[in-house]
Amino acid sequence: MTTKTENRLPTAAYVNGKFISGHKKFNVINPATGEVIASAPDLGVADCKKAIDDAHTAWPGWRDTDVTQRSRIVQKWYELLMAHKDELARTMTLESGKPLSESLAEVDYGASFVEWFAEEAKRAYGESIPATKTGQRLITIRQPVGVVAAITPWNFPLAMITRKVAPALASGCTVVLRPASQTPLTALMVAKLAHQAGFPPGVFNVVTGKDSKGMGEELTTNELVRKISFTGSTEVGRTLMANAARTIKKVSLELGGNAPFLVFDDADIDAAVAGAITGKFRNSGQTCVSVNRFYVQDGVFDAFAEKLTTAVKELKVGNGLDNGVQVGPLINRDGLEKVKAHVEDAIDGGARLLTGGKAMEGLFYEPTVLADVSPSALLAHEETFGPVCALFRFKTEKEGIAMANDTEFGLAAYFYSRDVNRCWQVAEQLESGMVGINTGLVSNAVAPFGGVKQSGIGREGSKHGLDEYTEIKYLCFSE
Ligand code: SIN
Repeated sequence: MTTKTENRLPTAAYVNGKFISGHKKFNVINPATGEVIASAPDLGVADCKKAIDDAHTAWPGWRDTDVTQRSRIVQKWYELLMAHKDELARTMTLESGKPLSESLAEVDYGASFVEWFAEEAKRAYGESIPATKTGQRLITIRQPVGVVAAITPWNFPLAMITRKVAPALASGCTVVLRPASQTPLTALMVAKLAHQAGFPPGVFNVVTGKDSKGMGEELTTNELVRKISFTGSTEVGRTLMANAARTIKKVSLELGGNAPFLVFDDADIDAAVAGAITGKFRNSGQTCVSVNRFYVQDGVFDAFAEKLTTAVKELKVGNGLDNGVQVGPLINRDGLEKVKAHVEDAIDGGARLLTGGKAMEGLFYEPTVLADVSPSALLAHEETFGPVCALFRFKTEKEGIAMANDTEFGLAAYFYSRDVNRCWQVAEQLESGMVGINTGLVSNAVAPFGGVKQSGIGREGSKHGLDEYTEIKYLCFSE
């Protein structure tokens, strides 16, 4: 492995308003080249504990800061994120491998949560309830929960931070963030910009480190933490939830998906192919809402498969910093091995390979289309998290919906149809938190993002995103 350290990348964690280098460091690797691009502080459980103490000390002051002032600081943070768009995007591409065009789009997406919640915090309304006894007045108010621990993944190094941290800070909570150890640099840059925006010391803290188990345990068991927000795998989410149960913390979990994408006989096939490319190849298929299973009705199966294969063959694979690249590498060797295993298993089970199907140099995998995949294939049951389109065939609407719902996950689902009645019926019957109807992309700051079944608990973004960081307090006034 060669080393090519970039000069301008941030390398200090952020605790109680101070930038700390840490005694130990860990390397951050560019998955497109295998090069070490920087090193980040390898903090541990004790540092996490200190950051939680600092966040707890800072909480009353921040909670009691009037909302206009809190909102102004959050808004300033938004402006700084946008002003550093190019720098943030380049850092994201270097550490995650995603194409630069996607990183630039992620800065817009990530910052939009900050802008949205700067405004939304002013609308944390309570309610007035008609009393049942004369002389009583019943009202509710919303109050911030307290110290929030946020644990974020590598696939959206910026947006998954802002989607949690912005509503928490805007509503008057303080935060300790542990970003993924694969992509700590974007988080450190975000912390630097938060410092410039003027958050008081201890209000926002970022602890980087390799000890995901130890730090995760501290963040989810420490009594001072009142809320845990996590995005990542269902397996890890289950452990964190069990830990959090010991001190009955409020929990938001955005976990794994296994998104179906149905194409009905009445669909606009060209539009469905365009939606499929967006829904499958964003971040090389490494998103929780990536299409994992394409269910195509018999009458249009061949036409869809042919057009999709042509579009997939045109995708440009490479280093995300190179011009025109649309598909980057997998994040690491484990990710690549999983994709390889899923494709091999599908082919062994009788699937036809229409294009791709091979690992390339380094961590790259050819954009792949498989047709007539068996419903018992691994691809049908586990999130592949890679650039592979698996096509399954169905005959009737009822059968298609049953196949789509045959999973323990329920994050996103997509379908294409031009029949209005079918659109309503299918949307209502799909067991998922989000449904894309004639689109392959549903994510934005103003809509509620989240899953059902084992894909998670709670919603991020939208007006509901703020509820996750506040508690309802009921006040009963008697004369
Ligand atoms: C995720 O993959 O967890 C998030 C995807 C999105 O926000 O669209």
